[in-house]
Amino acid sequence: MADQTIAAAPVQAQPSAAELRRAAKIRRRYPTVTDLRLGAKRRIPRFAFDYLDGNANEEFCFNRNISALQKIELLPRYSVNVDKISYEIELFGRRYAAPFGIAPMGSPGAIWPGAEHYLAAEAQRRRIPYVIATPTNATVEEIAKIAPDVLWFQLYRFPRNNHAITDDLVNRADRAGAHVLVMTVDTPLGLKRPRDIRNGISIRAPFRTGPNEIYQVATSPAWLMEVWKKGIPQLDNIAPYATAKDRHSIAKVMANENGGSHRWDEIARMRDRWKKPLVLKGIMHPRDAERAASLGVDGVVVSNHGGRNFDGAPATIDLLPAVSAAVGTRMTVLFDSGVRSGLDVVRAVALGAKCAFVGRPLLYGLAALGGEGARYVVDMFFDELRGEFSHLGAVSVADVAAAETRHPGAWRLGANS
Ligand code: FNR
Ligand code: LAC
Repeated sequence: MADQTIAAAPVQAQPSAAELRRAAKIRRRYPTVTDLRLGAKRRIPRFAFDYLDGNANEEFCFNRNISALQKIELLPRYSVNVDKISYEIELFGRRYAAPFGIAPMGSPGAIWPGAEHYLAAEAQRRRIPYVIATPTNATVEEIAKIAPDVLWFQLYRFPRNNHAITDDLVNRADRAGAHVLVMTVDTPLGLKRPRDIRNGISIRAPFRTGPNEIYQVATSPAWLMEVWKKGIPQLDNIAPYATAKDRHSIAKVMANENGGSHRWDEIARMRDRWKKPLVLKGIMHPRDAERAASLGVDGVVVSNHGGRNFDGAPATIDLLPAVSAAVGTRMTVLFDSGVRSGLDVVRAVALGAKCAFVGRPLLYGLAALGGEGARYVVDMFFDELRGEFSHLGAVSVADVAAAETRHPGAWRLGANS
């Protein structure tokens, strides 16, 4: 060991006075995710913002997620020494630095070109899980190089030809080094998103360019400049299955091959072939969580896709305790939909989640601030966690999990439901 050379730690350049002034200005302008959302709305074309911000039908489920989280009360504990707090968690045998991660989001390059690269780099830097989606504008292989320690892969269903594409995606994710496979089950056919319908936007159709779109793009110069530099985003992760590498051929794969909810027999089959941890995303009913556990699935994400798919769904936080009570000792219970702050992360942990996933706030950040938005949002969540842990007198995630809560909207299901 004596002659082993130790690489010098990279020297962190001190920020200049001008950089510090700029950072302070951004903090003043965007103290919350709500401010970032408004910034995003001003800065990117309307069709892109609506794709990000929009939801199913009348958007009631989306609002339910937010307001149900707001109703969760946590009982503070003071006079505790909280100088040293650990936010660390363990998921499926790996350590992560905090109980939040980045949710899978398809075609994020439409919101900000290169989005996956920024998100992956930030997740790796802060050691939080990053779930790359199936329909992304970067390949799982290239993103795995950026986030080798924290990458999970989200899988959609491609039922044709005995699941040839599904299987190939899984093999690619495995070879690239994804640590966890996340099968999203809450996206059967027949989504209705009125904003996308009005704008003529779909992940299954090539982008239209009429006078309206040209006007929206022309009035979003920062976004246009990025697209000009990086090219019009297309679903690169799906490109291997298209006859040609253009947007039209790739959209055809999504339109003709993709769709539906992974069925129980398909999940059982995937359990046999995927040897690493397997998670189902979009589970709301405790009995479905139990069924997943009985198949040997390792975890569930209690999720309603942020209200983007089924407007009749309850708020996820209102089902979390029931799912956690049903399977929490057998599987890892994860959470998303409506998380907008460190406080919401703490609420989810206090009600049974091992980790809460953050979706839109990260893309609002990228749209409002460009590439540096990913870091800004992740830093904001870490800062907020420090405050909220202190108020609970918590020095570990286990302490937060034991916090006293009041939860007026919690679902209670009978054992036979
Ligand atoms: C998503 N979500 C998603 N989920 C998934 O499993 N595969 C996907 O490809 C996508 N795509 C996607 C695109 C966009 C633009 C958004 C906003 C969301 C759902 C996502 O993983 C998560 O469930 C929700 O984003 C959580 O809700 P909030 O917190 O964003 O409101
Ligand atoms: C969405 C799809 C990609 O939520 O899951 O837009």
